[in-house]
Amino acid sequence: MRFRTLVIALLAICLLTSMGWSKTETELPTAVVTKREMVVTANPLATEAGAHILKIGGTAADAMVAVQTVLGLVEPQSSGLGGGAFIVYYDAKTGKTTTLDAREKAPATATEDRFLDDAGDSIGFSNAWQSGLSVGVPGTPRMMEYMHDRYGKLPWQRLFVPAKRLAQKGFELTERTSSQIAELLDRNPGCGDDERLFFRDPTAFEYFVDTDTCEAKPAGTLMRNKAYARTLRALARKGADAFYYGPIARDIADAVQGDLNIPGDMTEEDLANYEVVEREPVCIDYMGYDVCGMGPPSSGGLAVGQILGIIENRDDLMGSNPLDADTVHLFSQAGRLAFADRNKYVADSDFVSVPVAGMLDPDYLADRAAFITGTDMGTALPGYPPDMIASYAPDTRAKLSGTSHVSIIDRYGNALSMTTTIESSFGNGVMVRGFLLNNELTDFSFDFEDADGIPIANRVEPNKRPRSSMSPSIVFDDDGNVELVTGSPGGSRIIGYTAQSIMNVIHFGLDPQEAINIPHYQNRNSYTELETPIPGVTLDYDAEALAEQLRDEYEYSDVRTGAMTSGLSSIQVVESDDEKPGKGHGKGRKHFKTILVGGADHRRDGTVGGR
Ligand code: DON
Repeated sequence: MRFRTLVIALLAICLLTSMGWSKTETELPTAVVTKREMVVTANPLATEAGAHILKIGGTAADAMVAVQTVLGLVEPQSSGLGGGAFIVYYDAKTGKTTTLDAREKAPATATEDRFLDDAGDSIGFSNAWQSGLSVGVPGTPRMMEYMHDRYGKLPWQRLFVPAKRLAQKGFELTERTSSQIAELLDRNPGCGDDERLFFRDPTAFEYFVDTDTCEAKPAGTLMRNKAYARTLRALARKGADAFYYGPIARDIADAVQGDLNIPGDMTEEDLANYEVVEREPVCIDYMGYDVCGMGPPSSGGLAVGQILGIIENRDDLMGSNPLDADTVHLFSQAGRLAFADRNKYVADSDFVSVPVAGMLDPDYLADRAAFITGTDMGTALPGYPPDMIASYAPDTRAKLSGTSHVSIIDRYGNALSMTTTIESSFGNGVMVRGFLLNNELTDFSFDFEDADGIPIANRVEPNKRPRSSMSPSIVFDDDGNVELVTGSPGGSRIIGYTAQSIMNVIHFGLDPQEAINIPHYQNRNSYTELETPIPGVTLDYDAEALAEQLRDEYEYSDVRTGAMTSGLSSIQVVESDDEKPGKGHGKGRKHFKTILVGGADHRRDGTVGGR
């Protein structure tokens, strides 16, 4: 973004204010600006670790390893060694953008009826989640090594120091983690060994819960995790093989196979066979910018791309600001159309044919956008993308939460966008050697076919990766320079959060923090959701009045207001008009000075670091 654009953005804010937008009395978070490098994460200790690695000359990949190992300790409910991740990565040296698929895999013995009982009925999400059946073969340790091998500069062992130190010396349990433990205890009452379902594993129970009172450990509790420190030491010394072979792998397989609710089938061989996959990014032109994201098995890149492509096609319906009812209507209708296609077509493309190019084809998106009128279209039907080969039955389940997003730009101009997960809050609730196991396989469809016997693309198959909504994104300007790095946790709402943050920056000219402060809205092809404003966190507006307007003027039959807890981490690269040579941040920018503008999500514990 040129300085000129920054001025336009400021004018936009003045315009919004003059149109009756009011900030809450409490000041809203403002963007952080740095000159050289930046890291944004959902936790201050993780941001600090990443910023330190960048400061001592580390690359974005180096910083990511430090951030991920710290997040697994201090935000254990969201991501960790026992989970998986997707990365979109821009390599400044080659000018190439790639994506890394470190998604968890189903074991080799998994069958399509995995989540069905003998009568062919679903065993239910709750039962599947809190069992050995839900655990996918983790990808995160291999991902860290793969990225460091190719794009790292600092010694591998150095990257583990911040997390090892915190695990040994201790850190304070956050309010957020404590309240999430309490929420799980509320849902699963019972303290005795035979009564507990979620923290059925005594190690996890003793780590997170005060066993005398059976209540969540309070915020501020000093947490030490010696087992995690030992695991990190093994990884630091021997690389990812220390995780995928030998005693750690054996303990993971034993924990899964010995699950106290329903035993799973993951073996040491499944762990030894795990590989990350480098895949082409999926990109779409949006208002002259190239928006690149993660392709299958994630639905994120395609669905974000479709939403943006569709809203651009219907600029005639676009409102004058992000909270204008016209904007909310257009965005929610685009969400309906995108989710209809996503639910039908997207799954692991190593197993099913996904019409990737067709779903983003400009003519196809123009045809889809033409379905939007001045009123709610109701449930959207999937389309027929031009390169569609196989038809599938839709998988429409919505999901719970347990994920984190990390955005990094280093001094060399590399950009990294990573969404990392263990699926639900605290994964499947079982702790092995200081980290939690994921429940990612509940992202598969529990049914394998519809009532007419048409197969569901996202059905369970051996060694397959479940469909994801994670949408790590990098946006490039028309010279191919990195413009914006963004992404969020939030289950299938991730898609809307990410698309909205891109729209807010690119279309409305807001800075990344202002974009995050805008309350969310979206439609996943069912009801329309509007975020209830949070004082001091989001811009204030009258959600109920907007809901009423959508019902009255746009004929919406189901509009709901409530919390929409995104965790966006965004960095924008901004050029100044000063044409002195600058360093980093993209090949076309060597004649401009650039600054980095960061936004973190205060709906969680997001912070921005760097210099
Ligand atoms: O991959 C997915 O789409 C989900 N497992 C992500 C879960 C999630 O974002 C939870 N976040 N708060």
